[in-house]
Amino acid sequence: MDSRGKLIVHGLTKKFNRSLEGVEVLDDLSFEINREEIVSILAPNGYGKTTLIRIMCGLLRPDKGYVEINGENIFNHAGVKKNIGVSIDGSKDSYSNFTAKENIKYFGMLMGLSNVEIGLRLEKISKYLNIERILNVRTSKLSRGQRQKLSIVLGILHNPQYLILDEPTLGLDLKSSQTLSDMLLDMKSDGIGIFLASHDTNIISKISDRIIFLKNGKVENTLYGCNLSHDGRELEKVYLNVYDEK
Ligand SMILES: Nc1ncnc2c1ncn2[C@@H]1O[C@H](COP(=O)(O)OP(=O)(O)OP(=O)(O)O)[C@@H](O)[C@H]1O
Ligand SMILES: [Mg+2]
Repeated sequence: MDSRGKLIVHGLTKKFNRSLEGVEVLDDLSFEINREEIVSILAPNGYGKTTLIRIMCGLLRPDKGYVEINGENIFNHAGVKKNIGVSIDGSKDSYSNFTAKENIKYFGMLMGLSNVEIGLRLEKISKYLNIERILNVRTSKLSRGQRQKLSIVLGILHNPQYLILDEPTLGLDLKSSQTLSDMLLDMKSDGIGIFLASHDTNIISKISDRIIFLKNGKVENTLYGCNLSHDGRELEKVYLNVYDEK
C-alpha cells in the first residue's frame, strides 16, 4: 500500500476509565484522508469525535492503533506533526494576555515562519475570515466567534498539508461560515487534505467529498458528498436514520 500523500488512521481504540461503562469511545477505527480531499465526521454528542481529533494531532495517545502521515507514525516521528494544522475548541488555543496579532506572530515564529511570510499568509487568510478588526485586541477580550476565527488562523498559518478542525463553524456568524467554506474549498484545491468534525449539516453537505458516521467507536456508514443536496436536508435524513433519532 502506498501511504505517501495520505493521513491514515488505523485501528484506533480508546477507552476512558470513566466513560460509558465497558464501551470503547473508539473501537478499532480506521479510515484515510487523501491530499486534496475534504472528509467530515458526523455523530451525536459524546460519540468520540473530539477524542479522535485529539489523537489524530498527537495530543492524546490511543490504547491501540496508530496515525500515520505520509508514511510516518506521528507518535514515533514527532517532526511529522508539523504537517498538520489543528483547531480544537477555539477558546483555549491562544494566550489570553497577548493580542490576536501577538499570538499569530508567536505561533508563526514557532512554526519557523519569517515576519514577511506571516504577513503574506495573514493577507491571504483575511480575505476569507475578515480578521483585521481583531488583530490589536487582547485575546481575553475577543467574542466567542472572534476567538474561533483566531483559532482557525493559528491552525492554518503555516499552510499545513493536512488541516484538522473540530467544529470550525461553532460561534461563527452566517457570512463567516460561508467564507470559511470557500476558504476550505480553496485550500483543498491547493492540495490540502481536510478533516472536520461538525454538527453543521449545511457546511458538511456543501464542502465534503466524504462523510463518515461514527457509531460505537467505528465507521457505521460513509456517504459521498457528490450524492448530496447542498442544503443539508438529505444528510439530516441519513443522520436520523443512522442514529435512530426521531
Ligand atoms: N479526558 C477524558 N476523560 C474521561 N472521559 C472522557 C475524556 N474525554 C472525553 N471523554 C468521554 O469520551 C466520550 C467522547 O467524548 P468526545 O468529546 O470525544 O465526544 P464528541 O463526539 O466530540 O462530542 P461533542 O459532539 O459533544 O463535541 C464522552 O463520553 C466523554 O465523556
Ligand atoms: Mg467534540
